[in-house]
Amino acid sequence: MKEIVVNMIDKIESLLKEASEFSAKNTGEIEEFRIRMLGKKGSVTLLFDEFKTIPAEQKKELGQKINALKNAVQQKIGELRNSALSDGDIEKIEDPTRPGTNDPIGSRHPISLVRNEIIDIFTRLGYTVADGPEIEDDWHVFSALNFPPEHPARDMQDTFFIEKNPDILLRTHTSSIQVRVMENQQPPIRVICPGRVFRNEAISARAHCIFHQVEGLYIDENVTFADLKQSILYFAKELFGEDAAIRLRPSYFPFTEPSAEVDISCNLCSGKGCAVCKGSGWLEIMGCGMVDTNVLESCGIDSNKYSGFAFGMGIERISMLKFGVKDLRLYFENDLRFLRQFESVI
Ligand code: DAH
Repeated sequence: MKEIVVNMIDKIESLLKEASEFSAKNTGEIEEFRIRMLGKKGSVTLLFDEFKTIPAEQKKELGQKINALKNAVQQKIGELRNSALSDGDIEKIEDPTRPGTNDPIGSRHPISLVRNEIIDIFTRLGYTVADGPEIEDDWHVFSALNFPPEHPARDMQDTFFIEKNPDILLRTHTSSIQVRVMENQQPPIRVICPGRVFRNEAISARAHCIFHQVEGLYIDENVTFADLKQSILYFAKELFGEDAAIRLRPSYFPFTEPSAEVDISCNLCSGKGCAVCKGSGWLEIMGCGMVDTNVLESCGIDSNKYSGFAFGMGIERISMLKFGVKDLRLYFENDLRFLRQFESVI
């Protein structure tokens, strides 16, 4: 019996030496080492089997030694795995108990989320989506929309010109799409036109040279200002909740007469007045009006028979109000810390 114990102590010592000297080039070698030591027929496992046959009085000292060996082997394997992990050899570790890695599912951009929601609401009212080019001519962006030749919006300050005479430019608003729709289609017309627009503005928290608008256009017989008001009220309630209220303030746009700007009750303070609505309880969300008869005629629509309304809004602005975003530049920086906050919104 004594001989067996001496033999086992020798084995323990040589295995301890082997473990302390062992190094691995890859995770495969670590796994081989683990099996060789701790597998079903591994050296350490066999020692434990042998240990069971030892008389009780010799077990104490030997037991401590075998346990120390097992701990040393396990620690070695742990260290080797950790250094393999930090070397980027993660995938090759075949540990079935390791938690899996989650592939991030990505998220829609907040501008797309709001654009899709606006489209959904107007689709329910029978509107269809229309599109148009970002590079436009003077006619579709200005002239057909009743802008007088000397109107300041044609100035180099606001518009990015690509060519002069004839003027080719980046559209400054999506109202150009309503011109294209009216030129190609007779009433009834009910379209919603989302798109990117461009203005030569200094970039700040509140302004950008690229932004997004949604234009709406409804032309038919007997369309009135009351229809416009009701459509916008419905839209506001769908987007901001049943308690949302709107108010219309008289305004001016060359392409509508009469024109109005639409305010929505501030959803942050429920109209009581806060920093965002500057104490007024109201937030401006869009421009609108009855399509000017000059515009209808320019686009080949009989203004004696038909009337209609149009509206236009900035998607960034609405997204800022909906999600509480305070800096417009965040929409264009592709900072994942910002974008990932929208993962749960569909
Ligand atoms: N095009 C206008 C702008 O960019 C927005 C707008 C106002 C569009 C009134 C409309 C409208 O259709 O009726 O500021």
